[in-house]
Amino acid sequence: MSKESFAQRLKTAMDKEGKKQVDLINAAALQGVKLGKSHMSQYVSGKTVPRSDILRFLAGELKVDEGWLKGSEAEIQQREIEPELNKTELSEANTMRTFKKSSKLDNVLYDVRGPVVDEAARMEEAGTRILKLNIGNPAPFGFHTPDEVIYDMRRQLPECEGYSPAQGLFSARKAIMQYAQIKKLPNVSMEDIYTGNGVSELINLSMSALLDDGDEILIPSPDYPLWTACATLAGGKAVHYICDEQSDWYPDMDDIRKKITSRTKAIVIINPNNPTGALYPREVLQQIADIAREHQLIIFSDEIYDRLVMDGEKHISIASLAPDLFCVTYSGLSKSHMIAGFRIGWMILSGNKNIARDYIEGLRMLSNMRLCSNVPAQSIVQTALWGYQSVENYILPGGRVYEQREFIYKALTDIPGITAVKPKAAFYIFPKIDVKKFNITDDEKFALDLLRDKKILLIHGGGFNWQQPDHFRVVYLPRIEVLKESVEKIADFFSYYHQ
Ligand SMILES: Cc1ncc(COP(=O)(O)O)c(C=O)c1O
Repeated sequence: MSKESFAQRLKTAMDKEGKKQVDLINAAALQGVKLGKSHMSQYVSGKTVPRSDILRFLAGELKVDEGWLKGSEAEIQQREIEPELNKTELSEANTMRTFKKSSKLDNVLYDVRGPVVDEAARMEEAGTRILKLNIGNPAPFGFHTPDEVIYDMRRQLPECEGYSPAQGLFSARKAIMQYAQIKKLPNVSMEDIYTGNGVSELINLSMSALLDDGDEILIPSPDYPLWTACATLAGGKAVHYICDEQSDWYPDMDDIRKKITSRTKAIVIINPNNPTGALYPREVLQQIADIAREHQLIIFSDEIYDRLVMDGEKHISIASLAPDLFCVTYSGLSKSHMIAGFRIGWMILSGNKNIARDYIEGLRMLSNMRLCSNVPAQSIVQTALWGYQSVENYILPGGRVYEQREFIYKALTDIPGITAVKPKAAFYIFPKIDVKKFNITDDEKFALDLLRDKKILLIHGGGFNWQQPDHFRVVYLPRIEVLKESVEKIADFFSYYHQ
């Protein structure tokens, strides 16, 4: 094949995306990629082919596979290497200093707000109405916090002008400590509680304080991707263990054991789980604790959905089963109290803190460095955690979360080629696609095609570090009428879709 083949592929991809040379040049400037007008026209006219960094940029912008755009080995060998920039071009490229993101971000993935979401934003900008089933944000779907919470925050606002102690207000931490007592977390005192701007901030802080370059941490697959992102950003290596769909999405103990090495420092569990909606029973938690004990691992347990458990089941904190281990348990008010925007979460250190003295010092340092978490939100922790719990009505038969779960589970599994494990908690379902039936090999492309065809936004399994292209996550927070409309469209899409 000749050089023109590359040019043709490039032109096809540009036409498909509706992008002109100037669009690519502008996008390159924004991203700090050196791509001048002369280069671009040489690629399009087939005079030369780009170096690998430019090729990667073009593939990304045009949403095509880099390997495809690059071409076959035989073709590559026949190509001329793109000449070095000549003096004029160099000075053209050097006139404006541009800034690239840190290479620390190279392997960080957070698709909950990623490329499919960007495309949805672009479509919305152009006036298209998008049905959003992509983010676990209760308020836009008509879930509101009890009036008492708002009232108490308003009353306390004048006293919240200053920084609080770094780990949080006494009243907030006392309420969290009492919650820890009810959940039977062992050996917890006031100093073991840290409030944060959501659990998100504390996940980041915990990973930064723990991981040296190359340290390994076991993280579930599928996961809530912030865990993997923060572990990676901290320099650690996220090693994914499988959660097994055949066993109600419980962690696969053999897989966990197989993946432990001398560098493994900790294991993360997400219970109740996002994205699967699984709730781990005592026996499963016990087995995880046994593995952690055997291999001397820290347990990080993300329990932000612990009050959104259905079917009369009871949530158990793994820390309560492991008084001899060092555990960090995370929860907050974003989901159970529908105040994701207030940004309040916490982490509780429990069990054998002696083995983690130095790590705890690191946590304190980082906690002090951010001064404190949002004080008005801390001021309502006591009100929210105790007394009337509006969330309880949502998760009982007749309640919105319960009925929406019943609806979405039935409606999705009625679609030929779609199966799912019924979620027990939280507000997510993670259905499986029969990839052979639809010939699906790229799940991000599936999500993009669904978005473009049906104006429905959801996140493909890969966004949760799930390696096969055969799952997607639906957030079932919208009312049943909206879910019905969405599932009808999804069913129609699957009636003709073939990748
Ligand atoms: C498992 C899990 N952990 C943490 C978070 C972040 O919670 P927060 O709002 O407290 O930062 C989310 C949000 O969706 C989540 O699903």
